[in-house]
Amino acid sequence: MKTVETVEELRTLLRPWRQEDRHIGFVPTMGGLHAGHESLIRRANSECAVTVTSIFVNPLQFSPSEDYDRYPRDHARDALLAEAAGTDILFMPTPEGLFPASPLTTVSVAKLSEELEGASRPGHFAGVATIVTKLFNIVQPTKAYFGEKDWQQLEILRQMVEDLSIPVEIVPCAVVRAEDGLALSTRNSYLSPDERRAALALVRAARAGREAAAAGGDAAVAAARILEDEDLVTIDYTAIWRDRMMVAGWVGRTSYLTENIAIREEAPRP
Ligand code: PAF
Repeated sequence: MKTVETVEELRTLLRPWRQEDRHIGFVPTMGGLHAGHESLIRRANSECAVTVTSIFVNPLQFSPSEDYDRYPRDHARDALLAEAAGTDILFMPTPEGLFPASPLTTVSVAKLSEELEGASRPGHFAGVATIVTKLFNIVQPTKAYFGEKDWQQLEILRQMVEDLSIPVEIVPCAVVRAEDGLALSTRNSYLSPDERRAALALVRAARAGREAAAAGGDAAVAAARILEDEDLVTIDYTAIWRDRMMVAGWVGRTSYLTENIAIREEAPRP
């Protein structure tokens, strides 16, 4: 694995694959890598001639009151994990390298970015869409891999790629869960043991919502009931949105967690 910091180094390294028209796979991350990221990298590695993983804690997607400063930044550990999963090129730009001056351009996907998580975190999805567009322009991947864990993000990026005719295939990858059922997320590392137990209410709520929907009931109400019973969870939303049962809330004082499951069982990927 080669690790590079600058856009120039990355472009030089990728030139042979681009010239030969081979598949360039891209896994954008903010670090804090876990088995969910690992699954994206493994999939990219199995489908592409070269796999690029980026690690960049994107300031554009954090509001001033959020966890930008305390977001995990264990680069040595992340590099080991990225390499073991099959990354060929690890792109780790610095904030000054990527943004020598504050950018004046924003990419934002209307409507979809204002709903659900977007309503509680104004500007968050524009920050994601802007950095992903910039990274796509730098890496110019043919395939980019995103977890279904962040379903709203995935739908927004699909829309963005479609609307702007960005020549990349977005590849959605299934949620990876811990043994107890909680979806893996870098932010799970903030949870105390009590909060971690409480976070499972989000999983139960998503399942209850799906069951209610299947029985013709009110999915949002069924899911909300479960969350209301858990003292350590402050509910943000429960809703069926684009074929998924979506729930989110704050666990403890600060950790904002989301969960989603398909409302219909999906056939496993061949
Ligand atoms: O999903 C994430 O980790 C981030 O939102 C992303 C896509 C890497 C953009 O910073």
